[in-house]
Amino acid sequence: MKHFIGIVGANSDESTNRKLLEYMEKHFADQAEIQLMEIRDLPVFNKPADKVLPAAVQEMAAKIEKSDGVIISTPEYDHSAPAALMNVLNWLSYGVYPFVDKPVMITGASYGTLGSSRAQAHLRQMLDAPELKARIMPSSEFLLGHSLQAFDEAGELQDTAQVQRLEGLFADFLQFVEITGQLNNTVAADKEAAAHFNWKVG
Ligand SMILES: Cc1cc2nc3c(=O)[nH]c(=O)nc-3n(C[C@H](O)[C@H](O)[C@H](O)COP(=O)(O)O)c2cc1C
Repeated sequence: MKHFIGIVGANSDESTNRKLLEYMEKHFADQAEIQLMEIRDLPVFNKPADKVLPAAVQEMAAKIEKSDGVIISTPEYDHSAPAALMNVLNWLSYGVYPFVDKPVMITGASYGTLGSSRAQAHLRQMLDAPELKARIMPSSEFLLGHSLQAFDEAGELQDTAQVQRLEGLFADFLQFVEITGQLNNTVAADKEAAAHFNWKVG
């Protein structure tokens, strides 16, 4: 069975993105193991000259490295991914490179109608940076709009059309992980390139 990390893109106590990942963890339990990862309590990225990373960041990197793929559920703050999520990605591309060639599925939930579409586009752009270089599943937005009304008291997603779409995308993600697993001719070189990328000459 595949083992995925589900990054909760919010650091707030109440988050419909956390609810979405909790729902996915339960709903897809017979197909994959999804382990939620919180981004709370990390210091703000400050580019330490010695590249000594906080222990929590090192632990996160090791867990992502070991996983078969990552699902990131992003809120949308001011038409972008939250600062707390960007902060984590900054840490996870500085002396550690767990996202390089890692399959990533992006989901998102927002209170409005657009379901975090702008934050998701923003996140895709970030994940394509030279020291992140994730394999982001293409053509695959899962946009959960009106997210405050989307779940019942048991945490079930109520709109059957949305459930069907999520099931389809998750099935695609399982395939995507298989396919990208075969594209391994440049993985070692890609890790090397990320580790030696230099913004001063790059
Ligand atoms: C400072 C701030 C900015 C926000 N900006 C947006 C926005 O640009 N688009 C949007 O749909 N919701 C916005 N929201 C509302 C929700 O925080 C947002 O829909 C979020 O995706 C909900 O996810 P969550 O339940 O996981 O926190 C904003 C809220 C705050 C406090």
